[in-house]
Amino acid sequence: MKSITRIGVLTGGGDCPGLNAVIRAVAKTGMELGVEVVGILNGFNGLIHNEMIPLAGSAISGILHRGGTILGTTNRDNPFAFQVKENGAAVTKDMSPAAMANLKARGIDGLVVIGGDGTLKIASEFSHQYHFPVITVPKTIDNDIPCTERTFGFDTAVHVATEALDRLHTTAESHHRAMVLEVMGRYAGWIALHAGLAGGADCILIPEIPFCIAAVIDKINERIAQGKHFSLIVVAEGAMPVNGSMTVAHIVEGSPEKIRLGGIGEKVARQIEELTQIESRATVLGHVQRGGTPTAFDRVLATRYGVAAVRELLAGSAQHMVALQKNAIVPIPIDAVAGTVSNVPPDSELIAVGRSVGVCFGE
Ligand code: F6P
Repeated sequence: MKSITRIGVLTGGGDCPGLNAVIRAVAKTGMELGVEVVGILNGFNGLIHNEMIPLAGSAISGILHRGGTILGTTNRDNPFAFQVKENGAAVTKDMSPAAMANLKARGIDGLVVIGGDGTLKIASEFSHQYHFPVITVPKTIDNDIPCTERTFGFDTAVHVATEALDRLHTTAESHHRAMVLEVMGRYAGWIALHAGLAGGADCILIPEIPFCIAAVIDKINERIAQGKHFSLIVVAEGAMPVNGSMTVAHIVEGSPEKIRLGGIGEKVARQIEELTQIESRATVLGHVQRGGTPTAFDRVLATRYGVAAVRELLAGSAQHMVALQKNAIVPIPIDAVAGTVSNVPPDSELIAVGRSVGVCFGE
């Protein structure tokens, strides 16, 4: 097996708190183990356009706590279906040969790809097609990547959503209102579930358990009967009513993530107000969950992932994702992960815990 002497690192998909902590750990571990590390700018775009920077010294100093990415922008570009202009017209082309040629020209013999489910699929295809060693790092605030107990970024999103709930709690109490908080998570309810439990929500609505608004109203009325004239409801953006569908904010044609979810929080708030006459307000937390500094947990996890990714490449792993299992970082074949999503099992311990402390899941 050819030994690795130069590693490229790139990020794909949306930004996520902890990206820079991974990049820093990859660069520092590379230095420690005597391999050069090159940062690829702007995701797969930078591979195609040969935009790369050496990652050493001042390039990686002071970045551990910083949100966003130091590698230009992060995006959902796919080298196998890349938008280019030809004769003034936009066309979709397979630009992966150009990406591979640039890797070769730069002497890069292994890649660390930091990304969510979409990026993992691309990384897997690239690695198979070109027999190129790729280690992926599971990144997303949604925590919806299988085979790992945590993606980095999730803890920060939960922390932000919990703080929002704490703040909504006091204003809800002061006005005797029902406060609905809509959180991200796409098709998984992990953020809603964890933040809802941490913030003492009365109702948590997640995509995995379609809800019945009557159950939410019953819960609010039960609280009123107990002298509690306010309620907190956390709604995952992908939550849906029984026999209903997810609420779509926009369809973005031509984007790999065509469907933008959003709006269910406002719908639930309006229904509560109509059915109870209790004043209700919806707050959409949105990208506040993704921006800014990562929590200490995410910084440590991201650092562990970055270190492990380099060590795996040097140990000869070629198509793996580093994952957290039973508090150890382990390599998992990318093919076991790519193209699948991890959802909250409705029979999981956390759901049972919620029920035990009186949380209504809209059932
Ligand atoms: O996957 C991360 C995530 O923040 C989801 O929770 C959310 O639905 C989506 O990305 C938002 O995407 P965008 O940044 O394109 O609006």
